[in-house]
Amino acid sequence: MSVLVLGGAGYIGSHAVYKLMDSGEDVIIVDNLETGHKEALHPEATFYQGDIRKIDFLRTVFKNESIESVIHFAANSLVGESMEKPLKYFDNNVYGTQVLLQVMAEENVKHIVFSSTAAVYGEPETVPILETEKTKPLNPYGETKLTMEKMCHWASKAHGTKYVSLRYFNVAGARESGEIGEDHRPETHLIPIILEAALGKRSHVTIFGNDYDTPDGTCIRDYVHVEDLIDAHILALQYLRDGGNSDVFNIGSNQGFSVKEMINTAREVTGKGIVAKNGERRVGDPSTLVASSEKAKKVLGWDPTKTYSKKIVEDAWKWHSAHPYGYDKEGIKE
Ligand code: UFG
Repeated sequence: MSVLVLGGAGYIGSHAVYKLMDSGEDVIIVDNLETGHKEALHPEATFYQGDIRKIDFLRTVFKNESIESVIHFAANSLVGESMEKPLKYFDNNVYGTQVLLQVMAEENVKHIVFSSTAAVYGEPETVPILETEKTKPLNPYGETKLTMEKMCHWASKAHGTKYVSLRYFNVAGARESGEIGEDHRPETHLIPIILEAALGKRSHVTIFGNDYDTPDGTCIRDYVHVEDLIDAHILALQYLRDGGNSDVFNIGSNQGFSVKEMINTAREVTGKGIVAKNGERRVGDPSTLVASSEKAKKVLGWDPTKTYSKKIVEDAWKWHSAHPYGYDKEGIKE
């Protein structure tokens, strides 16, 4: 029996495939390679290139393989882009998941673990954020993830599909052994941008707003190491296999770091004098997002060991400094 990983060529999906293979699982990958990289595919996993919105394609994968459970990462995930192209997000994230749940029901596959986001909370009323916090997304990306959760809930009632939704905070870092890492085009995430400045690929980092109501005026986020995040998925899968009920969990570190603090950590780790300039606030950015992940620790037994800012930046730097062009060999997309 296999675990089907949708979006297994993406940043988080590829890290999941590597860890699942490490733990002895048989893995099938589906990815349309729109934002994923073929170089990020695990060489020993079975790969189908295709789009989850194409029901006949997905049915073929489920017919060809013996799939026991699904981990679903295949989604668009940029807040800014979602404001400009909301329908793209509803189509890929919501409709894509609808097709997937349909095929899972047809094929009697009962377990799904999928990525949700802190963006479902919008601007939270209490920090650290508990799973019981009101969900009020401020952007289409968060709205589509919340809709996916609701769709899974109702599909679970009708078809008995059990799900775990993991609401990620700020995922960063790279696989410790260095084969895979983060490569988004264009890059919008803070840590890779800081490291691109350290590599001289950018002249500076722009700090999006220094007048927030935080100790140093810059936004506070909760950074979680990608390898700890993947452990949460593997534990969630085990929880479902052991008969656990459908549920949602925050995955973060319970600790917040400001943009300035992260730049300073990167200066320390890389030894480079990274130039930072103050800029305008970015539309849609909440000032502070910090998770309470006590529920994941208690219920799933999640025990993050790499989630501290220095380790996250060190592992990210190991990847970026060894792969300054990401998955391209010499800066040219093959
Ligand atoms: N930032 C800068 N300069 C940059 C890039 C980012 O100052 O060049 C700041 C942002 O304003 C923010 C922080 O760094 O305060 C982190 O920004 P990221 O873009 O790295 O991450 P976000 O917090 O915007 O997004 C993350 C996930 C999303 C998720 C969101 C929930 O990447 O998928 O958290 O709010 F939806």
